[in-house]
Amino acid sequence: MPPPKKTTLLIKNIGQLVTMSGPSPRIGDELKNIGLIEHGGLAFSGEEVLLVGPSDEVEGKAELVEGCTVIDAAGAVVTPGLIDCHTHPVFSRTREKEFEMRVQGKSYMEIAAEGGGILSSVRDTRSVERSVMRDKTRKRLDRFLKLGITTIEAKSGYGLSLESEMTQLDIIRELDSSHPVDLVPTFMGAHEVPEEYRNKREGYVDLLVKEMIPRIAKEKLAEFSDVFCEKGVFTVEESRRIQKAAVAHGLKLKFHADEFAHSGSAELAAEMGATSADHLMFVSDEGIKALAQHKTAAVLLPGTTFSVGGKQYAPARKMIEEGCIVALSTDCNPGSCYCESLPLMISLAAVQMKMTAAESLCAVTVNAAYAIGRQTTVGRLEQGLLADAVVWDMEDYREFPYHFGVPLATTVIKRGKVVSGG
Ligand code: NIG
Ligand code: FE
Repeated sequence: MPPPKKTTLLIKNIGQLVTMSGPSPRIGDELKNIGLIEHGGLAFSGEEVLLVGPSDEVEGKAELVEGCTVIDAAGAVVTPGLIDCHTHPVFSRTREKEFEMRVQGKSYMEIAAEGGGILSSVRDTRSVERSVMRDKTRKRLDRFLKLGITTIEAKSGYGLSLESEMTQLDIIRELDSSHPVDLVPTFMGAHEVPEEYRNKREGYVDLLVKEMIPRIAKEKLAEFSDVFCEKGVFTVEESRRIQKAAVAHGLKLKFHADEFAHSGSAELAAEMGATSADHLMFVSDEGIKALAQHKTAAVLLPGTTFSVGGKQYAPARKMIEEGCIVALSTDCNPGSCYCESLPLMISLAAVQMKMTAAESLCAVTVNAAYAIGRQTTVGRLEQGLLADAVVWDMEDYREFPYHFGVPLATTVIKRGKVVSGG
């Protein structure tokens, strides 16, 4: 028998320990259950969770290594490290000019149709030095981490050529191994039709299907394939063709679905067995039912509606009633939502989508883990899972939506190490 594992990091005197222990993913009434332990304690061994329970029990059982880090939470709230399951963080130039144009009355889609939007980020990505783009992305990861986010999904999609998409994915790979935040890579060559294919869009779909997807899958640069299936971008039929090729090459699926208008993309995502369908402000009742039935996670991005000045938030309550696996994310990107704060999304979810603190916490932990295929390693504090945890400057978890817009993560632990605060 191997010797019992020793504790390398102990957190004691946790006022409310949100373990998320229980079903994964969570739907309906299960979303009320956040696995709460009052007066909790946590012991980590290396990168893994070792003990979870009442503080005195954990302190009694834990065998500390010499030099063990001991954190006295002094009655604060502790949660699993948050998971942002939908981001576009790899870009250089920001687009504050477009934001100001929206403030002055232009719509996101009007700006895109005039050559701004995604295409302006594509011009930038193709011309910037790799190291400049990497360093700017790294700064965004620093901000995620400080705000209590320890795992993110990260998309390409501002290159729209094989070479440039591969550069973005390669930056994601490099940062995954050099930065404490774990990154799950998604190929999004189908984010927009690039300028050089504007009059021959079928040629771009061919390029995606015949060259880009096979090469990216072969180089193992991505786990997921995502398509912006939207009126004026990729049609349902084009999206189906692209995602069929992705599946044939072993990629799992995500969709940008029903973001600005209803297109039937949620239905397509469910039918194709996608891991998630994201945005969904204009999803139909049939789409909601299909997502629930096929266990395709519904990833809601209220920061996008907020930042584009939209009125319609995704119908979260209806989705919860119908049994959808609801997750929440920032959509962090230079156009429609430049924000790394997942806690702020919890506030928007409460006020605009009527989600409770418990529901939102499930949506940024267990259900977000499901939306990126990581439910067996992150999103819950259970023995054997990754030791990712955050100590928050709050005494009650319901402060999450209520105390908004300020950084409240005091200590962030990733893979058993204190990586921010302390
Ligand atoms: O999720 N919808 C498509 N993509 C992003 C916006 C990207 C951009 O404007 O650069 C989104 O909203
Ligand atoms: Fe997005």
